[in-house]
Amino acid sequence: MDLDAIREKAREMMADRPSHRYREVGYVYNHGQRVGEIALQLREMIFPTEPEYDQVILVGAWLHDIGKGIEPHWEYGELLVRQILKDYCPPEQLEQIAQIVGGHTLRKQKPFPFYVKLVQDSDILDHFGTQEIWLSFNYAARSGGTIETTLEYYEEKYNALVAKVRALLNYEESVRYLDDKDRFVREFVERLRLEAGGKLVQI
Ligand SMILES: [Fe+2]
Repeated sequence: MDLDAIREKAREMMADRPSHRYREVGYVYNHGQRVGEIALQLREMIFPTEPEYDQVILVGAWLHDIGKGIEPHWEYGELLVRQILKDYCPPEQLEQIAQIVGGHTLRKQKPFPFYVKLVQDSDILDHFGTQEIWLSFNYAARSGGTIETTLEYYEEKYNALVAKVRALLNYEESVRYLDDKDRFVREFVERLRLEAGGKLVQI
């Protein structure tokens, strides 16, 4: 597969796109790129002897949210990638990429091959840690929110969200990374809460 050509295609289709009114232009493209990086790192860690799926994992990750905006985006995305990639990759790999895009939201609903499960986990991981803080602050800035509404979100909704996605992760390695990201966010939010109240903090 010509990865450079596919990445360029992905950039053309997603980099200038306003995907969501509370997220920056090009979010879907950049998120896909990060998910690809995360998925390859997990693959090396969890399946060190199976590098032959790396291209499929990468392209599936890059394009997994290409259908965003038209729901169900995973089904629409699968249709799109079958169309877009037909001249870019052999039928067997196209089938595997379509499985990733079409299955990335259906975590634990049916058995999936490891290359789909890795992207499912990576997709979750990219929404947590510093990325989670970025998304929350961006949401506040774009929706007229304040530090108070952001702290309320962390108090009232964040815990349940982490618990929900944690249970959907496929691999214990992914759970360890999620827990680490979660710890970082909690520490950050605790400090935010103190400093938002004018407290001086020293560690
Ligand atoms: Fe995603």
